[in-house]
Amino acid sequence: MQPPTISAFMAGHHKECDELFAQAEEAIADNNWADGVPKWSQFASELEKHFTREESILFPEFESQTGMVGGPTQMMRMEHEQMRSLVSEINKASSSQDKEQFLALSETLMITMQQHNMKEEQILYPMTDQSLPNGSDIIDRMRQE
Ligand SMILES: [Fe+2]
Repeated sequence: MQPPTISAFMAGHHKECDELFAQAEEAIADNNWADGVPKWSQFASELEKHFTREESILFPEFESQTGMVGGPTQMMRMEHEQMRSLVSEINKASSSQDKEQFLALSETLMITMQQHNMKEEQILYPMTDQSLPNGSDIIDRMRQE
């Protein structure tokens, strides 16, 4: 079996995150905090893992290989910060079981996340597949993160 490309591996993790997010949101929309809160935490920790994989492994590899330091990866890092601050607001809404606030902020996060993931999947990840010859080593390192 062919090892996955960076694109496939990263897009697969986006999908896992999206599913956890949808389950958390659905449970909380149903007032099911008992299932919704742990799902939300699971989502938040997978999302953070995803950001860390990019910021500490994938982006630096891409930057050193291509010399593109202030370009797309810088934009992606800024968007990660925006999403982190939304996540921390949603954490508060989750601990105080403020459904209205939770759903309003999670809607914003979902839109931000969709746009961000689309840019990565359509532009940045294919660029990493093209420019990084040691894709499977990079995937192995990201798996350990
Ligand atoms: Fe990202």
